[in-house]
Amino acid sequence: MTRPSTDLRRGPSEARSTRLEVHFGDNLEIISRLPDASFDLIYIDPPFNTGKTQARTQIRTVRDEDGDRVGFKGQRYRTVHIGTRAYVDSFSDYLGFLEPRLEQARRLLTPTGSFFLHIDYREVHYCKVLLDRIFGRTSFINEIIWAYDYGARATRRWPAKHDNILWYAKDPAHYTYRYDDIDRIPYMAPSLVGPEKAARGKTPTDTWWHTIVSPTGKEKTGYPTQKPLGILTRIVKVHSNPGDRVLDFFAGSGTTGEAAIRLGRSAVLVDNKTAAITVMAHRFAPFPNVRYFGCDRLRLPPGRMDARGTDRPIAWTRPRG
Ligand SMILES: C[S@@+](CC[C@H](N)C(=O)[O-])C[C@H]1O[C@@H](n2cnc3c(N)ncnc32)[C@H](O)[C@@H]1O
Repeated sequence: MTRPSTDLRRGPSEARSTRLEVHFGDNLEIISRLPDASFDLIYIDPPFNTGKTQARTQIRTVRDEDGDRVGFKGQRYRTVHIGTRAYVDSFSDYLGFLEPRLEQARRLLTPTGSFFLHIDYREVHYCKVLLDRIFGRTSFINEIIWAYDYGARATRRWPAKHDNILWYAKDPAHYTYRYDDIDRIPYMAPSLVGPEKAARGKTPTDTWWHTIVSPTGKEKTGYPTQKPLGILTRIVKVHSNPGDRVLDFFAGSGTTGEAAIRLGRSAVLVDNKTAAITVMAHRFAPFPNVRYFGCDRLRLPPGRMDARGTDRPIAWTRPRG
């Protein structure tokens, strides 16, 4: 399985010239106050309307001779449940909920900006029709399929193992697309293309193979529905320029923000769940220039209280140029 590389070379200390803002509250209320044409890239990953409760239980294992798990060198461990983060993913009028937010997204894009909607097979067709109406059919550029291969497999139908990411450009004739910054992936049959091409690799198609965030890996924040940093890194790197402003108003664990700040972009993130803000505060703790707005009533992790925004958010100011 090939995967987009995650550019982790830019560490927290290199992110000094960029700024990250986290806003707590309903996204429609917050983004309606932002000025026109103030973001170069908008990515959103709204709840998928699965009708299920999205939940992730966090566990820790501790050494215990009577424990139920056997680990390295036969040592026994006991499982301790730390807690469960959950939210209900169901709206009676999903498109009615999305529509005003998508209209705002179009208004907020710069003339060369791009919009990405991350969704799945249950709603993608309805969202495509809605977005065609809001952006215009010619503004639709790609449907990216994020394919993964993890979890239980259905036995009465083909197992559904992909998400859909719709890309719209505000102006289909002029948009940011940094072709040279696309990461390369291995050829399936390298012997057919010669050693030089094989060594260089090829650019991916509109089908991106990438593992989900491993439930036991380093990247995991514990937030349900966290998306892989590799997917967001590819989007931010190719569809925005260094110094640009990125917006994600269904921010969750803040994956878009981490990709943006590591790549030298500024980002504004919005979420209305306290659990999301808390996860982001932990995630962004190593980075400078992170500010939290509307979070006065929330308990941010130690060391983050000073990051409460008392100054004017950049989100409310017009971008340069
Ligand atoms: C699918 S998750 C996003 C996950 C994110 N892409 C990540 O990588 O962690 C959707 C998020 O939208 C947030 N959300 C839902 N309705 C919202 C609203 N009206 N305003 C702000 N955030 C909202 C939820 O709290 C949830 O964190």
